[in-house]
Amino acid sequence: MEAVGVVGSPRRRGNTEYLVRYYLKQLTKELSTEIIPLAERKIAACRGCRRCQATGECQIRDDFQGIYPIVVKSKILVLGTPVYYSGMSPLLSAFLSRLGMLSSSRGRELGGKIGVGIVTGRRAGHNMVLAQLLQFYFYHGLIIPGGPYWTIGFGGGRGEIKNDREIYTVLSAHAAFTLKIFKKLGGE
Ligand SMILES: Cc1cc2nc3c(=O)[nH]c(=O)nc-3n(C[C@H](O)[C@H](O)[C@H](O)COP(=O)(O)O)c2cc1C
Repeated sequence: MEAVGVVGSPRRRGNTEYLVRYYLKQLTKELSTEIIPLAERKIAACRGCRRCQATGECQIRDDFQGIYPIVVKSKILVLGTPVYYSGMSPLLSAFLSRLGMLSSSRGRELGGKIGVGIVTGRRAGHNMVLAQLLQFYFYHGLIIPGGPYWTIGFGGGRGEIKNDREIYTVLSAHAAFTLKIFKKLGGE
């Protein structure tokens, strides 16, 4: 798939998944897309063993193995997470630690992709979490398209995000700009 959305919420069909789906739908106008909700996967935390640096493989056997090649083959990575106490979800954090370490061990395989971050939360901390996602992208050499506004949505209970009317205009415009950048880069 050209664009892959990884949903870092442990709650299936929640607010984060809703927004990531919406964003991917905008990209679907021109690209093939796939969504990967981590809630249904087993992703253990990185053990920091650094065996990947010697072997180019993660030693932990779980669902990460199946996701890594999909992300590496994609050209646009959309990461979504709820705010958990002003941080990203532990689930996404576990995933990104392993993704980042393995990518670095294999010659910066994430480098050159386009990275998009989407954050949902009930009330506070969104921009701090968005900054965490952007720092990850920056470290790993992804290209970050700017946008007309912050890709953050407000909603607490499952489905409440539908009441945040502003976020859909923001995500549509952001996705359109991402497609423009993608084409300017030669679509590769
Ligand atoms: C453990 C935990 C911590 C949370 N911390 C925050 C927070 O610091 N700020 C905030 O606005 N919302 C916080 N929330 C609310 C979630 O971010 C919010 O419900 C979000 O929409 C959940 O997304 P989901 O439906 O995709 O799981 C927290 C929720 C949980 C379960």
